[in-house]
Amino acid sequence: KFIDLMASYKMNVFHFHLTDDQGWRIEIKKYPRLTEVGSHRPRTQIGHSDYYYPRRYDNKEQRGYYTQDEIREIVRYAADRFITVVPEIEMPGHASAALASYPELSCGLGKTYVVRDYFDVFDEVFCPKEHTFRFLEDVLTEVMDLFPSHYIHIGGDECPKKAWKKCAHCQALMKREGLPDEEALQSWFIHRIEQFVNSRGRDIIGWDEILQGGLAPNATVMSWRGEEGGIEAARQKHRVIMTPNKQCYINYYQESPEYAPLAIGGYLPLDSVYAYDPLPAALSPEEQKYIIGTQANVWGEYIQTPETFEYMAFPRLLAQAEVQWTQPAQKDFPSFTRRLDKEFRRLDLRHVNACRNFYEVNFSGAWNAAQEAYEVSLRTFCPDAEIHYALNDSAITTSSPRYEGPIRLEQNAMVYAAVFRDGKPLGKVTRKGFTVNKATGRPYTCVPEAGWEHLNKGFGLADGVRGYARDMRRWISFYQDTVHITINLGKPCPVKEVSFASLWRPWNEIWPARAMSVSVSTDGKEFVRVGSKELHHDFTLTEGTRFPASLTFPETEATYVRLELLSGGPCPKGWFHEGNPSELALDEIEIY
Ligand code: ACM
Ligand code: ZN
Repeated sequence: KFIDLMASYKMNVFHFHLTDDQGWRIEIKKYPRLTEVGSHRPRTQIGHSDYYYPRRYDNKEQRGYYTQDEIREIVRYAADRFITVVPEIEMPGHASAALASYPELSCGLGKTYVVRDYFDVFDEVFCPKEHTFRFLEDVLTEVMDLFPSHYIHIGGDECPKKAWKKCAHCQALMKREGLPDEEALQSWFIHRIEQFVNSRGRDIIGWDEILQGGLAPNATVMSWRGEEGGIEAARQKHRVIMTPNKQCYINYYQESPEYAPLAIGGYLPLDSVYAYDPLPAALSPEEQKYIIGTQANVWGEYIQTPETFEYMAFPRLLAQAEVQWTQPAQKDFPSFTRRLDKEFRRLDLRHVNACRNFYEVNFSGAWNAAQEAYEVSLRTFCPDAEIHYALNDSAITTSSPRYEGPIRLEQNAMVYAAVFRDGKPLGKVTRKGFTVNKATGRPYTCVPEAGWEHLNKGFGLADGVRGYARDMRRWISFYQDTVHITINLGKPCPVKEVSFASLWRPWNEIWPARAMSVSVSTDGKEFVRVGSKELHHDFTLTEGTRFPASLTFPETEATYVRLELLSGGPCPKGWFHEGNPSELALDEIEIY
């Protein structure tokens, strides 16, 4: 079904990621344990690693792999539709399933190897010994017999060097070959595999980490950690496929994580996929010729069913198809949305479970400094439609107010909205809460400065939107034990309450504040403390969570309000990364 859909949108390469830490998914006749052992795991992590502590598991057995006959059928079916299937066999990292099957391919070091039941980058990697190369060459020989593709993807991403550093064989090999570090050893590894693949008349593709320690002479680079690797490779006159994660990973969220099915993270809505230009302006036209294509990636960690896969891939894959086939000057998002509106009918007839956010409303709020007002904007991708909305009322009909322009909010509100055409709703009612209070839109200063701010620098803590546990983009982080945030209210105002929230995600070493105090000032110099309290949180919860806190005090007049926080301190005993300083992640500061 997916190959048929790819063909409809003129996609001509299917990149088939067949091996990873959580499973080996292709039959290899010479090494039956790869599928007997490596294709099976007894359970899988639920939610994000950093969501639950300790990790939770579904206790559902997973097993499965493609037989060689099935692979041949897929390759033939795709070829009949002008699609080349490029197989990927991961090395030297992401090798847990292979090492669980054949531990002798590892550096040893007294470890046992298992097919992994959670998602991470693991230290267990192939050891570059003769035995391993014989194994990989045998595997690649069977793979090349099955896949006529000129390109064979050999992975190369996310290979920790910890095992190689401790391994006597690896260290002796580095000395013998004059390799200055483990990065050079990785390069040597990939180079050696390349020689084998080239000897069979094929070329390798590797993820951009294969640049580390020097590119193998004929390698094509798949740039995923942004475009930098691809740019560097093109300058070195190597072929490149662009798939930077922030523009091309369509396993990221495409609608608000507040109501979307759980995804790996990130946020990549339809218009951002459409906007991508795979030819970086940093490259000359001559260098751009080395960019041979772009691809969308749908990684499977949080995708358990074909329906969820379709939800992730569609309609974003159609936007990616135009990225691939339309000259940038011809690209036109409004035209795309008009065609996509019709195309949705075809997707429905083909029973494709596409994401329906196209027919729903997305919200954004911002302080309008000129108007001194908080404004909420509503947007739908759907053309030729009306948006109706209401505050604090989820029953939206065509008699609800019609959206004509930014909605001014005077106080906290939940905004509900839906998209209508010819009087009929096209999708579900969506919603977003906004907080509007004396801090909203006011500038603030932080001592120390925030460690990282994804959004709204200088305003993210008072931008009218509360962070929530699933979406890391909203939280503002600090790494020091005490944090002062001073908000300038602009004029003297009566104040009697200050609230904020801090995040708890023990797997990320993020712990909530343990104390708060509030001071006020009329001149920004002399501050008078109006209250303080210790904060206690329920750490018996097993899910990472947003902990709100607030302090009330006798009403007083203030132009400046200072919130002083004590961070969570070191990660507590018995918890992940015990003793490490914790990170304090804040959002949103509210003053009433
Ligand atoms: C990748 O996403 N690790 C290529
Ligand atoms: Zn080793």
